[in-house]
Amino acid sequence: MPKPRLIVAPSLPDSVFRGLAERFESQGGDVNLTVDEAIAATIERQAEALLVSHRHKMTADQIAKLPGSLKILATVTVGYDHIDVKAARSRGLIVTNTPDVLTDCTADMALLLILAASRRAKEAEQLMRQGWRKNFGMGEFLGRQVSHKRLGIFGMGRIGQAVAARARGFGMEILYCNRRPLAAELEAGARYFSDFRAMLPHCDILSLHAPATPETDKIINDETLALLPKGAVLVNTARGQLVDENALINALQSGQLFAAGLDVFRQEPDFDKRFIELPNVFLTPHIGSATLETRNAMGFRALDNIEAVCAGKPAIDPV
Ligand code: DGY
Repeated sequence: MPKPRLIVAPSLPDSVFRGLAERFESQGGDVNLTVDEAIAATIERQAEALLVSHRHKMTADQIAKLPGSLKILATVTVGYDHIDVKAARSRGLIVTNTPDVLTDCTADMALLLILAASRRAKEAEQLMRQGWRKNFGMGEFLGRQVSHKRLGIFGMGRIGQAVAARARGFGMEILYCNRRPLAAELEAGARYFSDFRAMLPHCDILSLHAPATPETDKIINDETLALLPKGAVLVNTARGQLVDENALINALQSGQLFAAGLDVFRQEPDFDKRFIELPNVFLTPHIGSATLETRNAMGFRALDNIEAVCAGKPAIDPV
């Protein structure tokens, strides 16, 4: 039985890369290919599978260039806003993602950002690297308490629920906005809001966990930021598209927000450099799922999907 022909656009963690040869006739996985390079290789090798990451924007035009040999367009990420799924489906392509395996890791990251932004970790770390030098009075260098605060979660899917579980350990009160309320056992006492705007005045901290869609685009804007209590903290580990970054920068400068923790940006890696100048924003470069364990699990999950589809079996994670 010949092995499926696979083109891998992102560079993969070592152990995932090393496992490729056993299961596939593959190209890539050791370097980051651009979309154009990946499509060219897919055509040249008449590949049956193409593996991409969120850095590869697969528009309808790009999808139209893919060869008829292709059966599956797999993304190694849980988010799939970079793929025009409708265009892929209309070509008869199966699209898959990698849910579940990055839930804990991304939730950990949200907590890191909540703590770092609220407790001024960026300024504190910078100050230590400058040699500290001066003792602080009791009223200086004050952050905001995280324990026992009200945490609003926008998007209560797997990751939102994992954030809530962690936040309960800090004695936080959980509010959430989701398309539908969760079952009582999953809700575990969290307060449901069907209306995002109605939830905002009750949030000391707001953490975003919804996908990027036309409905969520710039849902964080001048109007919604003004609905938060003055001095709230915003955290985003979901997608930059949810945020109007001009509005966010204004809110950070005016003090409407005490601080923000951001792992994702509208433009990556060329993010808005005005953020660098702001002391009250803690910035990370889209590393929510970047642990060895999780990136391995994401890679293997994507390969399992590809292997299944190429063997004529149902995809494990069709989107
Ligand atoms: C995802 O899987 O969507 C993450 O954002 C990528 O790390």
